[in-house]
Amino acid sequence: MEVLIRDTADEVSLLGSQIVAQLLRRKPRCVLGLATGRTPLRLYGELIRLHQTEKLNFSQVVTFNLDEYVGLPPDHPQSYHHYMRENLFRHVNIPLESTHIPDGYSADLRHHCKEYEQAIINAGGIDLQLLGIGSNGHIGFNEPTGSLRSRTWIKILSEKTLRDNASNFSNPDEQPRHVVTMGIGTILEARHCVVLACGSQKSNAVKEMIEGPVSSMCPASALQLHPRVTVIVDTPAAARLDHPEHYRWIEQHKLDWQKYP
Ligand code: PGA
Repeated sequence: MEVLIRDTADEVSLLGSQIVAQLLRRKPRCVLGLATGRTPLRLYGELIRLHQTEKLNFSQVVTFNLDEYVGLPPDHPQSYHHYMRENLFRHVNIPLESTHIPDGYSADLRHHCKEYEQAIINAGGIDLQLLGIGSNGHIGFNEPTGSLRSRTWIKILSEKTLRDNASNFSNPDEQPRHVVTMGIGTILEARHCVVLACGSQKSNAVKEMIEGPVSSMCPASALQLHPRVTVIVDTPAAARLDHPEHYRWIEQHKLDWQKYP
């Protein structure tokens, strides 16, 4: 795991967007795994800016989102379909047919999950998977004690996650308890995973992910088994790490070709 510590959340987002943009320029036909939530908003904003000012080209990109709520129609303001449309897709030149988000409104969810896995394979696999982390260590919506080899499936949200996201729903009765999410096994097959975490509320989860044992109690710790993970955190999210000076040392001694822009 490569751990990059930055002073502010803005710097985290900027570096994350530079890594994505670098891939798009090198491989215009890449497959991106996308995340939702508060964390990637500024990264998407920066990608939109690069599209508008530097013509960053999304015309050949294929995307797969991590997850979606079960039971919310795609035009529901809290659905991740709506989120992606409003925060990225409608601002860049990506053909909507190249974008994929699990369909939590499908009449046959189990079949849909299998189709989603197959669609990722058919696209050639994910080149870069963006990830946030939940305060309980979830990635996607893979909650503690779920299998570290899981595939895209229907999952039940933990009470902690429901509490963390409750403020997004003005009517608490509308907050779904179920989701469709890529599994940990699915995520681990991406060629490069880029995890962003900002704020002190993530500091425990960040410590467990990087320095804790690999354990289903912190699903993100499974990323320790992945050959190429870049974790970008701001100072508050890094506050509980035992070895920040080690991560800084490693970053300072990278070879030129290992450095990000
Ligand atoms: P957040 O969510 O970006 O809204 O904090 C991250 C996550 O739950 O994965």
